[in-house]
Amino acid sequence: MTWSEELASSENRHIQQMLRNTGKMPRHVAIIMDGNGRWAQERGRLRIDGHKEGMESVRAAVKTSSQLGIKYLTLYAFSIENWKRPVPEVRFLMSLLESYLRKEVDELHDNGVRIKTIGKTNALPKAVQRVLQEAINRTSMNEGLTLTLALSYGSRWDILRAMQVLAMDIRRGTLSPEDLTEEMVSSYLQTSFMPDPDLIIRTSGEVRLSNFLLWEAAYSELYITEGLWPDFRSAELYRALTDYVMRERRFGKISAQVRSDSSATTTSTLERILNALK
Ligand code: IPE
Ligand code: IPE
Ligand code: MG
Repeated sequence: MTWSEELASSENRHIQQMLRNTGKMPRHVAIIMDGNGRWAQERGRLRIDGHKEGMESVRAAVKTSSQLGIKYLTLYAFSIENWKRPVPEVRFLMSLLESYLRKEVDELHDNGVRIKTIGKTNALPKAVQRVLQEAINRTSMNEGLTLTLALSYGSRWDILRAMQVLAMDIRRGTLSPEDLTEEMVSSYLQTSFMPDPDLIIRTSGEVRLSNFLLWEAAYSELYITEGLWPDFRSAELYRALTDYVMRERRFGKISAQVRSDSSATTTSTLERILNALK
């Protein structure tokens, strides 16, 4: 059964329909999946158990985003700074990634998901690089959700890399500094294939970006929840999205310039969604 067939028979259908009816759903959601270690520690378990449990939340986020018709989901799975963690933990995370890709790629493909990555992926173990490349190639023509895994990713790393390429283009004479635009800077980044994130979610209550999408997050809405990543399942994602659709994105303008006629109806719909989630 595909995810959309599953949805037809589930109680989530109603909530998803209400969210969609607001007409304000984000095109791109990015998530800083944090708190796996604390989730395990709270239970007297090993940190790796938290990572394992966190994979279930990854599955839920991907499936729910796809059902909702969200076009881009970007998951911060491993930062360039995470290489500094103890070797056994890093090894475990790499093997988890490999097994996730092996196990899930069929289902992702059957559901129209296109897999992409950002980050210094040539630093990943060869076996991981191989399955990753296979998954990317296999799903490259899909037109549903674009699932981007940020792996060995650091935004400053990407910006620096982009600046180096850009500087070389200037030296070669294919680009002149006066012609440089914001769009051109974006086009040099690894994230050039995706729109800027509308919503960035971070779990575990940490109020920071940790080197994630620094250029791209210029006008993103931020949603920070105290909940830990392994506990972040569909209901939590609905809550984050409900919060997001209720916001007014002004992009520097004043409220009267951006207010839509539908805001009154939207508020009552949202109250109903939040009630349904209780
Ligand atoms: C997020 O959980 C997963 C990764 C960064 C790979 P953490 O492992 O950072 O969990 P905490 O923050 O220690 O609880
Ligand atoms: C951020 O989480 C990176 C990922 C979620 C992959 P961390 O747990 O590594 O972030 P800091 O170091 O506490 O900011
Ligand atoms: Mg953490």
